[in-house]
Amino acid sequence: MKALTNPLAALLLTATSLIPLATAKHIMIPATSFNSQADFDTDWNYLYPWGSDHNGAARMKESQATLSDGVLTLTATRVDGEPPAEHGGRQIAIRYLSGAVHAKEHFNVSPGGGYDFAGEFRAPVARGTWPAFWLTGVDSWPPEVDMAEWKGSGKISFNTFNTSSEVRALDVDYPGPDNFHKILCEIRDINGQDVSVRFVMDGREIETQYGRGFVGKPLYL
Ligand SMILES: *[C@@H]1O[C@H](CO)[C@@H](O)[C@H](O)[C@H]1NC(C)=O
Repeated sequence: MKALTNPLAALLLTATSLIPLATAKHIMIPATSFNSQADFDTDWNYLYPWGSDHNGAARMKESQATLSDGVLTLTATRVDGEPPAEHGGRQIAIRYLSGAVHAKEHFNVSPGGGYDFAGEFRAPVARGTWPAFWLTGVDSWPPEVDMAEWKGSGKISFNTFNTSSEVRALDVDYPGPDNFHKILCEIRDINGQDVSVRFVMDGREIETQYGRGFVGKPLYL
């Protein structure tokens, strides 16, 4: 695996495969999707779906996301002189340039259906870092599922939002930030409206959470 240029602020992702359950399993993003620029371009775009800024002090830039040996590396770099971001009517000072990618496909759990989202990650947990592997609504917020989020506390978090205040947020000890860990998130329709969200890390069951009204709502990855 590639050495990190900035170990405090880099996230590596390999082998993401997404499998909807219907009459048949279908792989939407193959494990080879970081093998070459052409593979990447088939399934992924740079930045957030809505642009370069979100709710933190980092501005995404395409050049901060690089491919090598089947690994995507996202690197944050300290920067001065960037104009502030705007989020929820607030201005947020930009202190870092960083990398984000999102799937070209949207993921919409259909009645009786579901998806498996899986990837291998090496993520920093140092204070100030905030890498994440997450789903958020295309047409509304929530839905949001944080399939793996590292909030700079030393832990890994698994979260499902019904509303901004009704959220199940679980912090778990993160074993060995210097190693890759496998994350699996299984999302399933349970009653035609709500979904179950089952989190597994390194083959170990974490827990199952529930998202209200997520069925039929397209998600960004
Ligand atoms: C979200 O909604 C689902 C379905 O109603 C419910 O099972 C779950 O407990 C809710 N989550 C929280 C954190 O209240």
